[in-house]
Amino acid sequence: MTTYTAPFPANRPRRLRRTDWMRDLVRENVLTAADFIWPIFVMEGTDASEPVPSMPGVERLTVDRAVLAANEAANLGIPVIALFPYTPTHLKTPDCEEAYNPDNLVNKATRAIKAAVPDIGIMLDVALDPYNSNGHDGIVQDGVILNDETLMVLERQALCHAEAGADILGPSDMMDGRIGVIRRALEQNDFPDVVIMAYSAKFSSAYYGPFRDAVGATGALTGDKSTYQMDAGNSDEAMRMIARDLSEGADMVMVKPGQPYLDICQRVNTEFNAPTFAYQVSGEYAMIEAASANGWVDRDKIIVESLMAFKRAGCSGILTYYAFEIAEKLAKPY
Ligand code: PBG
Repeated sequence: MTTYTAPFPANRPRRLRRTDWMRDLVRENVLTAADFIWPIFVMEGTDASEPVPSMPGVERLTVDRAVLAANEAANLGIPVIALFPYTPTHLKTPDCEEAYNPDNLVNKATRAIKAAVPDIGIMLDVALDPYNSNGHDGIVQDGVILNDETLMVLERQALCHAEAGADILGPSDMMDGRIGVIRRALEQNDFPDVVIMAYSAKFSSAYYGPFRDAVGATGALTGDKSTYQMDAGNSDEAMRMIARDLSEGADMVMVKPGQPYLDICQRVNTEFNAPTFAYQVSGEYAMIEAASANGWVDRDKIIVESLMAFKRAGCSGILTYYAFEIAEKLAKPY
């Protein structure tokens, strides 16, 4: 890009930074409520909520409370909520049958929200970890995470989520071939309009720790996820994963975690002409909260700055636990 500037003093870049209104006028990127997907944790019970200890300020909600939350989110202009289940331990099995139970937590929540708040989009993860007694995203046999056997379960899970009314499916498991299998199943079963947001560049990350607490998978997980999630040292491989998932029928792609992988976000946005999302994950949230609680950083400012980075990197939107709070702030007249 060629830039034409006069030499100093004819050119004084500070002229454009002098006042609030001038900075507002020339700002290249803005945040709006429409940029956000809000993840919500759902649990059994009625009219109750409980805190997630490693994510201060985030609560698990019963289905009826999730409906209220969805309604408020819709009123703030948040386009999509993503539902994650806190599955009771007795329903977790090595075969993960609960993943395709039509009445599992997220399916119940999806139906209830669709009935009460038709104008908000619902995204559901397609992955087995919340339902697996060993905490992995795939079927495990003799310590090995099986790929093709997992695909058969993911297919059933995807169909029962589509049946429940999910608008967007987010395959987050990183098994090979999953997007193609799910897309074909959706087409064959009369769900041509269900969107797939592929967790394509999903790295094996310590930043997911608090989430695993939130869905109750921490104690269950043996080993780590590095035989299926990506290695933190790889960037070209991420591009190959994006290309693969788009060619198998993904409509949108995701980079995850967010802030530590902003270089990946920017590369995806530059190299692919597809809607790209970033997930500001639980560990990113927990770090901001912990530093803020200690008075080490200015919480409100650092949240907005952390979210703005994704817009600057070219993302279409951001999955963030701050969605509701920031949408509420953006809705206030200023
Ligand atoms: C499950 C899944 C994970 C997250 C979203 N879906 C955890 C994992 O892969 O272990 C992480 C979200 C977060 O950390 O906020 N497949």
